[in-house]
Formats: sequence, C-alpha cells, structure tokens
Amino acid sequence: MEVLGIDIGGSGIKGAMVNTETGELVGERHRIETPQPAKPQAIAETIKAIANHFDYKGKIGCGFPAVMQNGVIKTASNIHKSNIDVDANKLFSKVTGCEVNVFNDADVAGYAELKFGKYPDFKGMALFLTIGSGIGSALFYKGMLIPNTEFGHLFMDKGLKCEHYASDAVRKKKEMSWEKWGKRFNEVLQYLEFIFSPELIILGGGTSKKFDLFEMQLKIKAPVEPAKLLNQAGIIGGAMLA
Ligand code: BGC
Repeated sequence: MEVLGIDIGGSGIKGAMVNTETGELVGERHRIETPQPAKPQAIAETIKAIANHFDYKGKIGCGFPAVMQNGVIKTASNIHKSNIDVDANKLFSKVTGCEVNVFNDADVAGYAELKFGKYPDFKGMALFLTIGSGIGSALFYKGMLIPNTEFGHLFMDKGLKCEHYASDAVRKKKEMSWEKWGKRFNEVLQYLEFIFSPELIILGGGTSKKFDLFEMQLKIKAPVEPAKLLNQAGIIGGAMLA
C-alpha cells in the first residue's frame, strides 16, 4: 500500500509517498519551508500543498515536534505557542480533505527505524534520539513504543535542558566544531544511559548523516548507531502509523 508520510520540522515540512510493506520511499521527497510563524492554519495549508503536489487523496500520517495525545498538540517548544491544545488531526483533516493522523516526530521516526532499520527484531530497551532544532526521544521495550518521552527536556546538572545544551541548532548557533559538540552530546548520552540503561541507542535527524564526525567522542557502554533510514525515518514512520 502507498501512503503519504509527512515530517513536520522547525525549518522544513517534508513529504513522500511510502510503500508501507517495504518501508521505502516511492519517488522523490517534496520539501516546503516551514511557514514562519509556524501557526496551526499555516502548517495545515503546507500539508495540503504537499498532498496536492502528489495529487493524493488518501490517509496521511505526520510526525510533529510536540507531545501529541490522540492527535491533540500538547506542547510547543520549537513551534509557535498557538499550537498548544489544537486538535491537529481534526484541523489538518479539514483543511486537506484527507484523513490526517499526527504523532510525535521522534516516536514516528523511531518506530520506522525499529521496523525497517538495522535491528528490526530488537527485543531489549532501545532508545531512539533525533537531533535537530531540539532533541526528540522515543523509547522502546521489547519492540513496544512508550510515546511522548521528551528526554530532550531533562535538565543536565548545568541547569540546561539536554536539547538546549547539545541539539544541532545549538551546534550551529555557537559554531561548535564536531569535536566540541560531540563531547557535549556524549554527556547527554551518559546522562540518559545512567537513568534508562538502554541496550541500543539509535541516532536520527540530519545529524545522523554526520555520525563519523563525532562518533569518536561517544564514550558510553551501549552501542550507538546512526539511523539506517537517516532523516527519512520521520516520513516513513508517519506513513506507517497513518
Ligand atoms: C519537542 C519534542 C520533539 C523534539 C524533536 C522537542 O523540542 O519537545 O516533542 O520530538 O523537539 O523535534
């Protein structure tokens, strides 16, 4: 079955048709800049533009950078505050004329990676992190997703949230070398490892493509791997969960 998956990010909204049996993209990805300010109606119009681009009328699955409960947006750290308490499933479905189902972006990306990545039958505790404007998290135990974990918002002992200390946005803003940023990110991983003892950590988001530039700074016990699906995991997971 071919389903439209959409990944809503702080800087871009990306969609592609996905074969839900194989987890592969069918054709090219289509990307539109995230409207600024990223208010709910503007986001909905962008989703509609992506659906129109593919001349698509079926179900759509989206990853969204916030806590999502039954399609309702509950937080807004890297998006406009007016998104809070908006029923995204309802609004996006109304504007697009398609049935739209929205989930947390890290949850959908992690879901795709654990299904179609390097460890499809991983039964232990697996932690998936996306590194971008923020740090998103998805925790899996015996293949089951515990949604909306939001580990990027845990405070480090420096009084900063993990995502304010070592997201990709922080790396860019402070013009850090990969070595310097990698050391910071390693501290985040050490902290999360101490609390959750994951047996596998997978890194997604754009930064996963640069894994070899900071891999040597990571000194934790659990194996750490870049996501096999790279930054397409959000689109694929969205389509899977649609
Ligand atoms: C949000 C998360 C999201 C992550 C990655 C964080 O700021 O709170 O919900 O998964 O960014 O986009």
